[in-house]
Amino acid sequence: MKLLLIGSTGQIGHETLQAAKQKGFEVLALDRQHYDLTTANGLSLALQQINSTIDAIVDAQAYTAVDDAEKNRDLCFQLNSHAPKELSLAAHRLGVPYFWISTDYIFNGTAGPYSEKDSPHPLNTYGESKARGEAHVLSNHGRVIRTAWVYSERRKNFLLSILKAALERPELRVVHDQIGNPTSATDFASDLIQLIQASLGGDGLKAKEILNLVGRDAVSRHQWAEQIILSAKALGFPIKCETIKAISSQEMPLPATRPLDSRLPREKALELLGHKMATESSLKESTDHVLRRVQQLHSDQG
Ligand SMILES: NC(=O)c1ccc[n+]([C@@H]2O[C@H](COP(=O)([O-])OP(=O)(O)OC[C@H]3O[C@@H](n4cnc5c(N)ncnc54)[C@H](OP(=O)(O)O)[C@@H]3O)[C@@H](O)[C@H]2O)c1
Repeated sequence: MKLLLIGSTGQIGHETLQAAKQKGFEVLALDRQHYDLTTANGLSLALQQINSTIDAIVDAQAYTAVDDAEKNRDLCFQLNSHAPKELSLAAHRLGVPYFWISTDYIFNGTAGPYSEKDSPHPLNTYGESKARGEAHVLSNHGRVIRTAWVYSERRKNFLLSILKAALERPELRVVHDQIGNPTSATDFASDLIQLIQASLGGDGLKAKEILNLVGRDAVSRHQWAEQIILSAKALGFPIKCETIKAISSQEMPLPATRPLDSRLPREKALELLGHKMATESSLKESTDHVLRRVQQLHSDQG
């Protein structure tokens, strides 16, 4: 089986590369250095990699800087809407299944939890660009996998921000009114590969379908911060934080408005993949796992 992986250096891309290799896939990984999808040349080179020897495509590239997107609208739409439109069209023409990752931020958060049948109502530019991307991908017979609040030991994410702040400061302020499903990139990637295998066998997700694939436990940002700090203390991190003050989103204004309740139910994923899927792990288990990897990374770096 040959997998074309676009965005192999991201949180999800990196873990998908590992999971696919473990399952015996041959992986052709494209990265921004050689395939900058904001340039006509980069996109054209990526399109040339789509041919009939490829069994499936995972497109995990994206513009993910949610606040910066408010001032970089064109760039954000280029990566989150235009590139997937062209890539999914090329895949459809050759009959190659195309899996694209979307987000809970396509919803406005007033009516969560949101099933795969709910229509997007984004609050910010990032969400708007991803909602547009979804529409293109689905009309080009692609498959859309929605996830949320992704974290790993690499790059930028909520877990790493909270850990850093908790190592430095005695008090943190964290919003209590945003609820969602934190999703470990490792767990997501493992289930995604299982889903691709099932889909290639005719049992998984069909063309033009959407699937929510998120971590099992839905919590507020504040509850998640508590779990991160509890786990970090238990693992021996020298945590300075003693108080995590719960505040409202209004008390922490950011350039991009976030949805308040963007939980994504998991019934469809459970039906397709069963209770043994990696995203069935508890938030505590997955948080511990990622924190152990952070420790490992630090000890490797000396
Ligand atoms: N992070 C979340 O909380 C979250 C939540 C819901 C859904 N998602 C979705 O999940 C997917 C993966 O997210 P992630 O957290 O893994 O993202 P990430 O860590 O920010 O990685 C994004 C990937 O896109 C690549 N990329 C950025 N600009 C590019 C360009 N101009 N040309 C080619 N590649 C480019 C990055 O390359 P470089 O390494 O060179 O930067 C990286 O490989 C995205 O579709 C995102 O919308 C994420």
